[in-house]
Amino acid sequence: MRRALVLGMAGLLATAGATALAGTADAATSLASAASAKGRYFGTAVAAGHLGESAYASTLDAEFNAVTPENEMKWDATEPSRNSFSFGSADQIVSHAQGKGMKVRGHTLVWHSQLPSWVGGLNATDLRSAMNNHITQVMQHYKGKIYAWDVVNEAYQDGSSGARRSSPFQDKLGNGFIEEAFRTARSVDPNAKLCYNDYNTDGVNAKSNAVYNMVKDFKSRGVPIDCVGFQSHFNSASPVPSDYQANLQRFADLGVDVHITELDIEGSGSAQATNYGNVVKACLAVSRCTGITVWGVTDKYSWRSGGTPLLFDSNYAKKPAYDAVLSALGGSSSGGGGNGDGGGGTGATCTATYSKAETWSDRFNGNVTVKAGSSPISSWTVKVTVTSPQKISTTWNGSPSWDSSGNVMTMKPNGNGNLAAGASTTFGFTIMTNGNTSAPVIGACTAS
Ligand code: G3I
Repeated sequence: MRRALVLGMAGLLATAGATALAGTADAATSLASAASAKGRYFGTAVAAGHLGESAYASTLDAEFNAVTPENEMKWDATEPSRNSFSFGSADQIVSHAQGKGMKVRGHTLVWHSQLPSWVGGLNATDLRSAMNNHITQVMQHYKGKIYAWDVVNEAYQDGSSGARRSSPFQDKLGNGFIEEAFRTARSVDPNAKLCYNDYNTDGVNAKSNAVYNMVKDFKSRGVPIDCVGFQSHFNSASPVPSDYQANLQRFADLGVDVHITELDIEGSGSAQATNYGNVVKACLAVSRCTGITVWGVTDKYSWRSGGTPLLFDSNYAKKPAYDAVLSALGGSSSGGGGNGDGGGGTGATCTATYSKAETWSDRFNGNVTVKAGSSPISSWTVKVTVTSPQKISTTWNGSPSWDSSGNVMTMKPNGNGNLAAGASTTFGFTIMTNGNTSAPVIGACTAS
């Protein structure tokens, strides 16, 4: 049994001279604070209709410092009939965000989808005036409150042509509609960053090349554009591209910021966690990648909830993907999940600190020190996620269980659950590298 519990090795570890690699006492403990420490924002799409749900709002407020209204600022919501504007739901989100000091990304002014049918019925002259009026009215309403606007969304086709997508704007106003939209937007709110946003442009391909050429042209002619949004909707058919970072960097090199705007990655367990961690690392490696937005708080309300693509499950528990993101941002979990303190409200908290110990050619040892917070605890739980093909072969000083992939280990005490306030204990494990020497992702320590 490769996962045999080996007791009695704690003493060996205590003398191993291990160096803490992550999870110091001062490490940030939320996505927002960890991202801030790296000079980035960490946002989420928000639906106004869920703000009244306490777990939704408390997770949002605890973890994120930027929001994007998921549907509430789109044309069908804000101007359902010509020149008649309704901002109620979007206002709810903006005022919630302002109350919490969160940035707001405006999404989106000109898009072929969620477009009321009256727009499609206009002739070219009226459409031009309706587009500019829409941009003007919506941006004026939110002037001074929006960090960045997705001025134009998804104007290019998928596939190898690099051609524009058919839409009322493209078909009646021609290629110049994007430039016109950006010029109008700049004239309304010169302090908002103006972004072009699209999907399937995350790697280098015909579609991203077309967007790249447009941005390059805009920059060379002084058309106002400040940022490019990469939606980053990933799944097994559309995985995180291997040239993701290189693609972000080539856009940044044109002199625009890059935003990851709608990140979600279908999957679960360590595979999903690894993908999320890689996306965060790519952003951090590009100095002009100024922030990441995930497309929803919880799997419960994702536009593709069947694919469980987000960081919190449908009960608002943090997933391994959450731990991977926090760890990639240099943060460290402590305390409980997004909907509580993890200690049943008793004040029981703990932190988990990872240290690498002995290393051999085919494996290495790691240990995790669990430290009680300011109250005594009687039990603790820590998740350890390794990256396939890594396997945990041995553990000590704890009682482990694994998920179905075998890559996520949940460690609970083995006679070492009772800790006085501020006291600590250490459990350990051996990771067979199978060629991959990356550090495990250590999840939140939850205590009771
Ligand atoms: O609110 C109505 C509800 O009253 C009605 O009963 C129900 C029946 O269909 O529809 C509800 O509205 C839905 C809305 O989401 C709110 O849930 C719309 O039908 C549905 O079309 C809409 O889907 C949104 C989709 O954009 C529309 O294209 C998703 O929530 C939203 O996540 C998604 O977001 C887009 C980005 O804006 C652009 N990039 C791609 C991304 C994912 O598709």
